[in-house]
Amino acid sequence: MSVNDPAEITSALREERKFPPSRQFSERAWIKTLAEYEALCRRAEQEPDAFWAECAREIDWFQPFDRVLEWNFPFVKWFVGGKLNACHNCVDRHLNGPRRNKVALLWEGEPGDSRVLTYQMLAEEVGRCANALKALGVGAGDRVAIYMPVLPEAIVAMLACARIGAIHSVVFAGFSADALADRINDAEAKLCITTDGGWRRGQAVELKRNVDDALARTSSIEKCLVLRRVGNAVAMRPGRDLWWHEVVPGQSPHCEAVAVDAEHTLYTLYTSGTTGKPKGVVHTTGGYLVHTLMTMRWVFDLRDEDVFWCTADIGWVTGHSYTVYGPLAAGATLVAYEGAPNYPENDRFWQIIEKYRVNIFYTAPTAIRNFVKWGDSWVERHDLSSLRLLGTVGEPINPEAWMWYHRVVGKERCPIVDTWWQTETGAIMISPMPGVTVTKPGSATRPLPGVVAEVVDRQGGPVPANHGGLLVIRRPWPGMLRTLFRDPQRYRDQYFSQIDGVYFTGDGARRDEDGYFWIMGRVDDVINVAGHRLGTMEIESALVSHPSVAEAAVVGRPDDLKGQAVAAFVTLISGKQGTDGLREELRTHVAKHIGALARPDYVRFTEALPKTRSGKIMRRLLKQVAAGDETLGDTTTLEDLSVLSRLREEE
Ligand code: WTA
Repeated sequence: MSVNDPAEITSALREERKFPPSRQFSERAWIKTLAEYEALCRRAEQEPDAFWAECAREIDWFQPFDRVLEWNFPFVKWFVGGKLNACHNCVDRHLNGPRRNKVALLWEGEPGDSRVLTYQMLAEEVGRCANALKALGVGAGDRVAIYMPVLPEAIVAMLACARIGAIHSVVFAGFSADALADRINDAEAKLCITTDGGWRRGQAVELKRNVDDALARTSSIEKCLVLRRVGNAVAMRPGRDLWWHEVVPGQSPHCEAVAVDAEHTLYTLYTSGTTGKPKGVVHTTGGYLVHTLMTMRWVFDLRDEDVFWCTADIGWVTGHSYTVYGPLAAGATLVAYEGAPNYPENDRFWQIIEKYRVNIFYTAPTAIRNFVKWGDSWVERHDLSSLRLLGTVGEPINPEAWMWYHRVVGKERCPIVDTWWQTETGAIMISPMPGVTVTKPGSATRPLPGVVAEVVDRQGGPVPANHGGLLVIRRPWPGMLRTLFRDPQRYRDQYFSQIDGVYFTGDGARRDEDGYFWIMGRVDDVINVAGHRLGTMEIESALVSHPSVAEAAVVGRPDDLKGQAVAAFVTLISGKQGTDGLREELRTHVAKHIGALARPDYVRFTEALPKTRSGKIMRRLLKQVAAGDETLGDTTTLEDLSVLSRLREEE
């Protein structure tokens, strides 16, 4: 992995505006005063084990744990000896009291259909699905690939896996057949759950066809369970493919939740890293649930009467932690929406907020920048007075987008929680506590209690306030990844070998004079496009797999809407011409190999790539070219650049 020199991480951003929470908000919040907040942080710092043990008592254990933490660097175990079940905690636990008939899920389909499930109804659906999984031969420890849009059944399928101790591996339905096949193969999944298709801006996306293509390249899948969603024609292979409606509804709704070890794997989720191969991040049961549940309270200030909406797709970690496990563990009423924010028109999100009287709304900066572009009038035609708290996640939010969110959506009344975390951290790590923290637009503010985050130089030494450095976490936390699926060495190399003794996040950051963190984005070869993490190496390997391409280098280029856009520099094998036709072909080629989200925005043909003497592509230079060169996209060669790089090396 190449890590940029932190001294070069500079930030022009100096934001002076400050926003304290209103008295009305603070008075009703879980954490009301700075003194309370500081007491919590002090306790977490001085007696971390006792602190996290108290947090862990907020969930149900079938068997209590003996030890809070076992830290055998860099491998960790939390709540050792405890037994529990995540599905029991998200569903059954709420059935014995006043939440029994509370709405768990307010689901909205893109075409305008909707479904409401109470906790009791959810319990029955999950029970039937869990029995169906068993009937299909799935047991504890088996991997199940879920390739579905945001549908009630997708959430049901995740919980059903958890109920029987199977490990789900959700693959974002926007990924291509190739990407799905890679993930199925790495996980050696036994069952795949999918739909005939999915709705996206009024079009039916043929998911089952992608699954068929993927399964042609995999050998571990025994059965494929297919939910009918859009009604398109699909091929059902006899003996392998089964309709959900023929298998699930006939099952008994009763299925015992198995008691699993606190460290039993709850799920794997593939995320982009600095090599071409996606990493299977492993999350286990006890610590993950405790961490997600506590953040529902600390960060989202969730109360029983709240309607909570996280707009993330279940294909990403945000969808796992804040569309499914966090809110359900907390007994919340959550909203989930299947489709695009601009279908049928640009006000779909605001319409949904008004329809369900959403109180807490959590979305991505890239979405907010689109809303800004579409104009205030789409927001203003809806009554958003139910909103009381807003959140963002996925990438740094620029202060102007923050101000717009604050003013136009929150009507200067709702605190904004800018939450920093990662697939690997499992749940939120750095964020305001909305009743207490004075926010500054663009800053995720301070670490949560029990989270020891620091900004350091390459050697792990401290850097002064307001100097750029690398963001690291010093102590283990309950929601952290435990390893990479079947690759503990890569886990160690990736996260614990860059800087001695600490977890390295891959992000650059600075801490200001008030101890607030300002995240400056990735310093490794990962780019963040519209809040989605993509490894530049993945896109490069996809490009190089095209018969005309000799070599490729991919970098991020600043983009007003997407945060970063994908810029590809490509050298062709001799005799091939860099035509507009080929450029389009390469873009489509990447979309086919990875998914539309990775499609390069710019493809530039070049005679040679700038390299160091040891043959390493000088991405930093390419980034500068990509950022500064308005003519990017034409076919001028970059020979001058290789000269430049040689000059640089000799400096
Ligand atoms: C970035 C998403 C700034 C960061 C939960 C991180 C952020 C990567 C923020 C993880 C934020 C996430 N401010 N940057 N509030 N939240 N990031 O794994 O670069 O999809 O390393 O997890 O997103 O992306 P991932």
